[in-house]
Amino acid sequence: MAESETRPYSGAPVEEQEFKDRNVVFCNHPLIQHKISLLRDENTGTNEFRKLVEEIARLEGYEALRDLPLEERRVKTPIAETFTPFIAGKKLCLVPILRAGLGMVEGLLSLVPTAKVGFIGMYRDETTHIPHEYYCKIPSPIEQRTIVVLDPMLATGGSACDAIEDIKKRGGVHIKFLCIIAAPEGLRKVTQAHPDVTVYVGHLDHQLNEKAYIVPGLGDAGDRIYGTK
Ligand code: PRP
Ligand code: URA
Repeated sequence: MAESETRPYSGAPVEEQEFKDRNVVFCNHPLIQHKISLLRDENTGTNEFRKLVEEIARLEGYEALRDLPLEERRVKTPIAETFTPFIAGKKLCLVPILRAGLGMVEGLLSLVPTAKVGFIGMYRDETTHIPHEYYCKIPSPIEQRTIVVLDPMLATGGSACDAIEDIKKRGGVHIKFLCIIAAPEGLRKVTQAHPDVTVYVGHLDHQLNEKAYIVPGLGDAGDRIYGTK
């Protein structure tokens, strides 16, 4: 990028203020912000895009799993016996929203390789922007598990709300939602409909356009991950 095209960092987006009393965590780490900027660039090709989505998911996942419960177990080191902390409770369950959420799964699995993985298939109608669910397979029983729903884009919030609703109907209780870019419209909708769900956001953008795409966003996440356009 030419020097004339740079400017000092202006800080976290002002749009975040609206959500300061909501159940939202903005993942403002510089590494996440840098990688999201690379994702946005229209010249970033499929291979690099896919790797970046995985890396950002790993970094956000590290933040989202900060409150996993621990229990102490006895371990014998070469020096002495001691009680030492391990992750406790039922195994984690990841639920990517197909297609684009699939690109985030490996990032989380690199942190918790034993996690179970469920799937929810959704697509947005291009005219109405209303989501349609076409597939759902979630590990059962789910009640005791921490469930992390994955989708890089939170636009109108319709897909996220429907996916969370479906998981709750199937018994899910401890739910987190992880996205890379959110629009204020979508974040408003999810936090109002599901105040019990903590939403982790990589970057909060300005708005949606008339086609319900996030501005400035990164375009169609599914197409860019899988090279379908
Ligand atoms: C995208 C994205 C989300 C949804 C967000 O999926 O991955 O699932 O749109 O939009 P919303 O917040 O307005 O519901 P899309 O429907 O393009 O399907 P794809 O992942 O198969 O490309
Ligand atoms: N889905 C995407 O992939 N991108 C957007 O900007 C909105 C919905």
